[in-house]
Amino acid sequence: MLTEPTTAPAEKDFLPGPVLLLGAPGVGKGTQAKALMAAYGIPQISTGDILRANISKGTPLGKLAKALVDKGKLVPDDLVNQMVADRLSQPDTRRGFILDGYPRTLNQATWLDAYLAADPYTLPVVAISIVVEYEHLLRRITGRRISPSGRIYNTYSNPPAVPGICDEDGTALVQRPDDSEPVFVERMKTFESQTAPVVEHYRKQGRFEEVDGDQPVEQVTAAIEAALRRLRTSKTLNI
Ligand code: AP5
Ligand code: MG
Repeated sequence: MLTEPTTAPAEKDFLPGPVLLLGAPGVGKGTQAKALMAAYGIPQISTGDILRANISKGTPLGKLAKALVDKGKLVPDDLVNQMVADRLSQPDTRRGFILDGYPRTLNQATWLDAYLAADPYTLPVVAISIVVEYEHLLRRITGRRISPSGRIYNTYSNPPAVPGICDEDGTALVQRPDDSEPVFVERMKTFESQTAPVVEHYRKQGRFEEVDGDQPVEQVTAAIEAALRRLRTSKTLNI
């Protein structure tokens, strides 16, 4: 994975390693993952998106996940780890990947660390923690609308040209069932109890940067790209 291309690449083609986007519900992980995917030509792997796809197809995993996702609870680690292993085995991850919303528990983090360490061609991960004030997150969550193809809008900050219709493909936008205020409150509690320790785990490892997500989308993207450039030259990478 992450082998450098033979043709002269643009400066930003080189990433310091697989990128983990960490942060509370609504901080902009999906929005930023899509921007990085376009900029670096590597796939976004969102465990939330994979679970939602299983829920809409009614697979056994989807049936099990639905009750938990609808309550703002986490899906069991072994199921999510297996889902990630399946996705990472696909060839489009060879030049790198962005993990969005994973790992989310310390168990998932230690599983991922061991899984990637076993692959001699994988660089160490770098973790970007996006931080947004709690009061702003509820508005982001309740205002979010998504297209069936995964484009993300917001009725307050990033509305489509025609309300309820995707600018790109004209499909009807929908609201995620877990984007209600009561479920958001539960998701925040889950984040604080189970995912905040994951942020600390990667902060201690040193291949870590915190980014202010309380600024316009393009500025957050620029801040993440600057963080990735710093991490690329950081001695903590040991490569
Ligand atoms: P998941 O889908 O990962 O949800 P989440 O972590 O709660 O995060 P969100 O997708 O809600 O927010 P985001 O940070 O991606 O923000 P976005 O870019 O959309 O997980 C859902 C559920 O699946 C979990 O609760 C759990 O049940 C299960 N699950 C998933 N992963 C799991 C795992 N690893 N283990 C176990 N269970 C798992 O932006 C939000 C809104 O803000 C949008 O409307 C956007 O347009 C707007 N916005 C974005 N950036 C900005 C900005 N800079 N300024 C203004 N508005 C902005
Ligand atoms: Mg998301």
